[in-house]
Amino acid sequence: MRTVETVADLRYVVAKWRTAGERIALVPTMGNLHEGHLDLVRKARGLADRVIVSIFVNPLQFGENEDFAAYPRSEVDDSEKLIGVSTDLLFMPSVAEVYPRPQAEQTRVEVPGLSDLFCGASRAGHFVGVATVVCKLFNMAQPDVAVFGEKDYQQLLVIRQMVQDLCFPIEIHGLPTVREVDGLARSSRNGYLTDEERSLAPAIYRQLKATVGRIQQGRRDFALLEEQALSNLESEGFLPDYYAIRRARDLGEPGPEDSDLVILAAAYLGKARLIDNIRLSLD
Ligand code: PAF
Repeated sequence: MRTVETVADLRYVVAKWRTAGERIALVPTMGNLHEGHLDLVRKARGLADRVIVSIFVNPLQFGENEDFAAYPRSEVDDSEKLIGVSTDLLFMPSVAEVYPRPQAEQTRVEVPGLSDLFCGASRAGHFVGVATVVCKLFNMAQPDVAVFGEKDYQQLLVIRQMVQDLCFPIEIHGLPTVREVDGLARSSRNGYLTDEERSLAPAIYRQLKATVGRIQQGRRDFALLEEQALSNLESEGFLPDYYAIRRARDLGEPGPEDSDLVILAAAYLGKARLIDNIRLSLD
């Protein structure tokens, strides 16, 4: 595996692959890689001749009081893991390489509507930061295909919308969430949990599955189900942010004709903000 830190070096390698007619996949990450990320790389391996993984903790997607400085960084470990899943190229740019001009003056990409809901409502500017950096990474690496996790379901929809609106010739693949044996979604932020919080954390996924069960038994009073779930999470020790039963395609309020749904949850447990979701089909 080769590691490059500049856009010029990345483009040099990519140009050679392109000349050879090779298909290129990109897996954008913020590092501190876990099994969920490695699954994305394995998937990318099956979709392309060459796999690029980027590791970049993107300051633009963190709010002022969020964990940008504390976000876990583990480049040496990450490199070893990426070699283990046959990554061809690791792109690890500095902040100055990605944002050479003052951040306040940086051109931004916004996917309005979708970006204003849920995680976007509680984390102002978050999805503008995500869309901007993903757009830049796409332009830097010019992949044919890019792979993202479905754990960040809203992010995946924002990226798909951006790709469609800006006519990127890039296939976007979403991959199912990888979970611990007790159901907790793998996340770089799980490391913030104390032992006690870690033992409570799987309650989010249990709650999502319980709501699916109630809907499958015929309940359609979604607002009440959401309210009950929020109060259950609170009594389990969480500080819930949102819990919502939505249309999977665009996160709109589901009507009687909608059968493809997603249930989205976000809640604080101590310092960690955990998010999770589950899809369900009413057919
Ligand atoms: O999901 C992430 O790790 C990040 O939001 C992404 C897509 C790499 C953009 O910084």
